[in-house]
This record gives sequence, C-alpha cells and structure tokens, in this order.
Amino acid sequence: MIPTIKRIGVLTSGGDAPGMNAVIRAVTRTAIKHGISVIGVRRGFNGLIHEDMSELNIRSVSDIIQRGGTVLYTARCNEFRYEEGLQRGKEACQSWGIEGLVVIGGDGSFRGAADLSARGIPCVGIPGTIDNDIAMTEYTIGYDTAMNTAMELVDKLRDTTQSHDRCSVVEVMGRNAGYIALNTGIACGATYIVVKEVNFSIDDIIARILNTQTTGKHHFIIVVAEGMGNCEDIAKKIEHATKIEARATILGHVQRGGSPTVQDRVIGSHMGHYAVELLAQGIGNRVVGMKKGEMIDVDIQEALRMKKTFSQELYRVASNISF
Ligand code: F6P
Repeated sequence: MIPTIKRIGVLTSGGDAPGMNAVIRAVTRTAIKHGISVIGVRRGFNGLIHEDMSELNIRSVSDIIQRGGTVLYTARCNEFRYEEGLQRGKEACQSWGIEGLVVIGGDGSFRGAADLSARGIPCVGIPGTIDNDIAMTEYTIGYDTAMNTAMELVDKLRDTTQSHDRCSVVEVMGRNAGYIALNTGIACGATYIVVKEVNFSIDDIIARILNTQTTGKHHFIIVVAEGMGNCEDIAKKIEHATKIEARATILGHVQRGGSPTVQDRVIGSHMGHYAVELLAQGIGNRVVGMKKGEMIDVDIQEALRMKKTFSQELYRVASNISF
C-alpha cells in the first residue's frame, strides 16, 4: 500500500479503558511501518486545542501493551463542542502537519471526530470504553478486562457474604448500559440482576430471594447496574422485608483499571492496525468495529445513530438459572 498521507495523530478521550495502550502501540507501529509519522496527543481533544503533543516512535510505545490506563492521558473536552474549539483543533493539525487522526473513546469522542472530519481533518474512531455501549460494534476495548475485574471482586464479596449468611447488593459500572451487570451477574451466580433494559421491582427481588431461600440457600448476591437506584436503599428494603442482613457495595472506578486481558490487547491491536490502514488510504470519518469476529468500519454519523440491542435471551438464561 502506498500511503496518501505523511503524518497522523492519535489520542484517547473520555473514560480510560484497559487496552487503550495496546491500540496506541498498534497505531504507532502500523503507521511507522507504512512510512507515516505519528503525533501522540495528550488528554484527548484538549491536547489538540492546546498543542500538548509530541512525536511517538517505535520505542516510545514499548512496554505499554500490558499496562492499564492510557499513556496519552485522557479527558473530556467541553471546548471541542463549539466552533472555536474545533477551529483551534483544525489549525493545530494543520500547523503540525497532521493529515489524519485516530480517536480512541466512546460516543462523545466520536462526535468530536465527526465534527473535525467535517472540517477537513479525516478522523477514524476506535471504540474504547468498558461499557460496551457502542451500537456499531459487538466489542469495545476495555469491556473484557472490566468484566473480569468485576467478576473477581464479586467472587471475593461472595466469600464474606456466604460466611455471614448475608445478602450483598453490588453496583457495577456501565453508564446507561447493563452489559457489565448482565455478564458479571451470570458469571458470579447472582440471584438477581437489575438492569435498565429489563423491567424490575423491589418486590420481584424480594420474592426471588425468599423463593431461593426455600431451596436451602442462605446467602445472596444482587448485581445492580449503575444508575438503577441507590444500593444502600435496595439493601435496606431487602433486609427489612426478608430479615436477611444486607450490605451494599459499589465497585466503582477499580473496574476501569488493571492489566488488560488477552482479548483487549489483541482486539485493540487489530483495531489500531485497521484504523491506520484506513487513514493511509485517505479514508476518514469512519468508526472501526467488530462484527461476527471480523473488523468492519462504518460512517461516524451512521454509527452514532445506531441503537444497541440488549440480549433479552441472555437475561432469560440468567433468570432461569439464578437460584
Ligand atoms: O464510560 C465509562 C465509565 O466508567 C462509566 O461506566 C461510568 O458511568 C463513567 O465512565 C464514570 O465516569 P467518571 O470517570 O467521569 O466518573
């Protein structure tokens, strides 16, 4: 392939996710392999606006594939929502000779990438978020590591929950999406999984606990997706109705850290490689994703319009085996 461009930029934006470093590494090395130089932009679009960036080489991305977080730092950038910020970003790209940009992040970051593409700087988005809430792709970077972290933590919680014959109500992340909750709930044998995609009531949870108790079980894990109510309140209601001692735990940001899993490293590397090969051909305004295990790319605006479906079938599986 003979690239049509000489220099690209790469940035991470929004919440960090394990595996972002694998993407940065693959982007850098693929570009250099094609004779394209790479500028690492720090703290998302802020780094473009304030020209906080420097050139990356093969060695500057050594020893990072196994590390959580992002070596380019990340941030959300309010200024980039307005014309003035977008123009400053465009001018920075022009003065640094950046002819294409890889944006690793979620939906909010892709909006910035689409706006910059519309102003003449081709951008390619790579889905990097633990939430797996991007409709055009089956997989987002960081999701697998976050689920495994949540699973390990809930397993630990189960040890003490079981010893005390208690009920643990545990909140996992996901912003507005229940994917981490559903998968962690199944993997940890939760008695009930509360997600926004499936109707629930506190009476339902209580009935499930009491029913399960009749089968001889004395401890219970209730997994609650973020945004579905206060865990302390849910725990209090359960304790009041069942007389089982209940405790609330919010796993929080620990789910965003840690060394990425094989899947996050490998898919992150593949997506990074794919994104650079698009830009090298002069193709921008696309988001890279995975469908049936294959890499795909779609128009950013189209990607932003798509709605993700929730697996009601997997939720049904969870309900049928949660006792
Ligand atoms: O999008 C990733 C995520 O961790 C969500 O699960 C969560 O709702 C949000 O980011 C938390 O954001 P912040 O780091 O700004 O508190």
